[in-house]
Amino acid sequence: MTTFTVNGEERTVDVPGDTPLLWVLRDELKLTGTKFGCGVAQCGACTVMLDGMTRRSCVTPVSTLEGADIQTIEGLNTPEAEAVQAAWVNIDVPQCGWCQSGQVVSAAALLYEIPNPTDEEIDQAMAGNICRCASYVRIRQAIKDAAKTLEG
Ligand code: FES
Ligand code: FES
Repeated sequence: MTTFTVNGEERTVDVPGDTPLLWVLRDELKLTGTKFGCGVAQCGACTVMLDGMTRRSCVTPVSTLEGADIQTIEGLNTPEAEAVQAAWVNIDVPQCGWCQSGQVVSAAALLYEIPNPTDEEIDQAMAGNICRCASYVRIRQAIKDAAKTLEG
């Protein structure tokens, strides 16, 4: 059994310790906003916040999560996350949408660390989030728009 907090709620799961967090979220907790892309930490589709840092949930065994604090796309409610999500909607960032919850989690984390990032900082921070629909130009624009909103 492993007990941790997801989106502010304490959850206990009884699954083999090597089960990736991604499958615990999707199959056990029915939080399907976090997506499976590659399964080997290469695409970023499965990104969640774990103890305040972005983490690839596809390669995070549940056995490492006792007492952890996890936020998924369903529970992200920081000012940065809200600004990012509003900017995403405003300029219709998603195409197929598959990569987008990971993109939003990473973008919100970036703005928390660097409130007004340069293009290079955006590209560097978002490099691990692959978009097969190549929505990168809109992603960068939406991050800048969100930064402006937060400046306020
Ligand atoms: S599914 Fe986790 S990084 Fe691709
Ligand atoms: S919007 Fe389709 S993979 Fe990114």
